[in-house]
Amino acid sequence: MNLTDHIESLVKKSENSKLLSGVIQSFIPNIRPIKDFLNCTQNQALLFAVIFYHTLQSGSADLSDMAGHFEVPVMRMLKYKDDLNQLIKKRLIRQEQSRGPFSKSGSISYYVHQGVVDGILKKRLVGNMGVLKDDFDLIIRVYAFMEDASDNGGGYENLKDDLLATCKENNNLDIAKKIMGSDMRDYEMLILIFIAYKLLNGEDDVSISEACSFLDNDKHFQLNVRRSLMNGRSQLLKRGLIETSNGVFRNENDLNITDKGLEYLLGDEAEKLTLKSEKVKNEILPGKILPVALFLNHNEKQQMQTIQGLFEKEKFREIAARMKAGNMKAGFSVLLYGKPGTGKTESVYQLARNTGRSILPVEISQTKSMWFGESEKLIKGVFERYRRLQSGIRDYPILLFNEADGIFGKRTTNMDSNVSQTLNAMQNIILQEMEDFEGIMVATTNLTDNLDKAFDRRFLYKVKFDIPDLDIRRQIMQAKIPFLPPEAIGKLCGQFKLTGGQMANIARKCNIHELLNGSLPESHEVDTFCREELGLQEKSKLGF
Ligand SMILES: Nc1ncnc2c1ncn2[C@@H]1O[C@H](COP(=O)(O)OP(=O)(O)O)[C@@H](O)[C@H]1O
Ligand SMILES: [Mg+2]
Repeated sequence: MNLTDHIESLVKKSENSKLLSGVIQSFIPNIRPIKDFLNCTQNQALLFAVIFYHTLQSGSADLSDMAGHFEVPVMRMLKYKDDLNQLIKKRLIRQEQSRGPFSKSGSISYYVHQGVVDGILKKRLVGNMGVLKDDFDLIIRVYAFMEDASDNGGGYENLKDDLLATCKENNNLDIAKKIMGSDMRDYEMLILIFIAYKLLNGEDDVSISEACSFLDNDKHFQLNVRRSLMNGRSQLLKRGLIETSNGVFRNENDLNITDKGLEYLLGDEAEKLTLKSEKVKNEILPGKILPVALFLNHNEKQQMQTIQGLFEKEKFREIAARMKAGNMKAGFSVLLYGKPGTGKTESVYQLARNTGRSILPVEISQTKSMWFGESEKLIKGVFERYRRLQSGIRDYPILLFNEADGIFGKRTTNMDSNVSQTLNAMQNIILQEMEDFEGIMVATTNLTDNLDKAFDRRFLYKVKFDIPDLDIRRQIMQAKIPFLPPEAIGKLCGQFKLTGGQMANIARKCNIHELLNGSLPESHEVDTFCREELGLQEKSKLGF
């Protein structure tokens, strides 16, 4: 049994146990490993387990939650105040004033910090946060603290404590020494680390407000810090460790780390960092993807939501860590297939945007230089590059095989032709690579039934995209051609089984119509566009 199993059964057993001493004896087999791991007392281990469970369930637990769990009066829980304080001192749990509309105001609740949750999953809890491998590890950890401070309202004070505790625990690392010995202010050091982290993830500029979001709890303080970054008074800017972007296409509120800043933070390691963050050709950054409202059929929507939930950064890290602990490869492959224009490619883009991942598109046409015998090398290169990219500090990008019909279609048995030989060789390489794959791979194809069986089996998730149902068609048309009266939308959608892509084209024609004629097209003209789109009618004389 691993630690989380012990926690789970301890929580189960202790439920409604009324904390009777005879019953507690039966918990010991589960308490012991937890207590040893956390280096605390039995009672503390029990409380920790319950708080850990509640943290995952609902974010935190207050005294009445715990009393409810054990089925004892709240007063009884006061006996454990000392133990709770000890757990806080050991930095295994934290307390917060309850927030949110449903909490009793002023009551104190307890939760387990993400760093500790990670530590438990990775079974690497040393001290309270785990020993870090190198400077990059420390940057990732500090970044996680900062995310926690801004997302979960952990607060700046906790963040500073965490930073210091982590640096002390890892004082063999150069960067830890640097942070402790720096004459910069804590929050400036944190901003520098934040920007360095982003650079490692391929984002070379970060907005001022993003870089300050760890100060969310104290709006006034945050405002001052932001101002110092805008008016150049910040030491970070004065010393040339960061710079604000300028240039036609850049937002002047964006911050970049300078070479000097990298060197300040990482010394000789700085070079490694720039190497790791080598700009990737073609990489599509999530921040550059425009949001598009997609309306999907019930099935597709549900499946895409499941997939998105899995690829959320926190969730993914947790699951990947668990898989690795169980000696499994954390590889996830998704196939989106169906008619053209049903939103497959757009779904991948929105998936990337919503989970903050970049996309590495594989240009099949490039890899298909069949006649030069280069394609096998190229396809191997694709996977090698992906491995190289994520072997460092980055979150997994999405490796995207878009419109990969040729690649994933039935393999040919006609081995005479040079082309089919090459194609078969490429397919074999990809099949092989998918076996050992770690990360996220998404393929889209317009094929609906000619998929090669071998590939079919390799994909963990397969989502079929159909022509949208009537109701969904109405929603898409309403979004894309908003000036049409509802009756016209109802009529057109009932009559024509259009895909989202086709409706996007029709919307474009409407725009051009307006530009040419100075007025929006009438419903009957849109009707014509629909027929053209479906090939039911010759193109209009204007020929678009
Ligand atoms: N379900 C949908 N909801 C809203 N818009 C859609 C939908 N499906 C397609 N579109 C529109 O059509 C465009 C092309 O779709 P795309 O994702 O390229 O289709 P596919 O990859 O399935 O061929 C999208 O950018 C989007 O504007
Ligand atoms: Mg597509």
